[in-house]
Amino acid sequence: MSLITLIDLPVLGDERGSLVALEGNKNIPFEIKRVYYIYGTQKGVARGFHAHKELKQVAICLSGSCRFVMDDGVKKNEFILNSPSQGLLIDVMQWHEMYDFSEDCILLVLASDFYDEADYIRNYDSFMKLSKRHN
Ligand code: TYD
Repeated sequence: MSLITLIDLPVLGDERGSLVALEGNKNIPFEIKRVYYIYGTQKGVARGFHAHKELKQVAICLSGSCRFVMDDGVKKNEFILNSPSQGLLIDVMQWHEMYDFSEDCILLVLASDFYDEADYIRNYDSFMKLSKRHN
């Protein structure tokens, strides 16, 4: 599977501007149980540094831009997210790091489940060991 899976979100634009609709199990490939957003990120800050065992997420940069590092334990890719009509799929067992947030960055994240700390893998060595079994 490709590390950078982008979802093109159709823009319902007209002379008034743009509108994007997000629908679970339609243009978002899971039932959406949780939505959170990250904004006001300070200069030089990096976030993430974890993978999930079961959780799937889609990240959409509603304003500004930020950079993603995606790592499946075999390959590592970088990607700049900078369009409100583009969703980045963060699948299970994908170590991800986010950095270079622009001052105006609003990063919306749709998640397939409620917040559960037990689903996080926050240690990179543990992630690598688990991903060897997974890949
Ligand atoms: P954290 O995991 O550090 O975010 P990131 O990995 O994006 O840098 O989350 C910051 C805090 O917010 C941490 O105490 C956990 C809490 N949190 C929730 O309570 N609910 C949520 O849905 C998320 C994503 C985080």
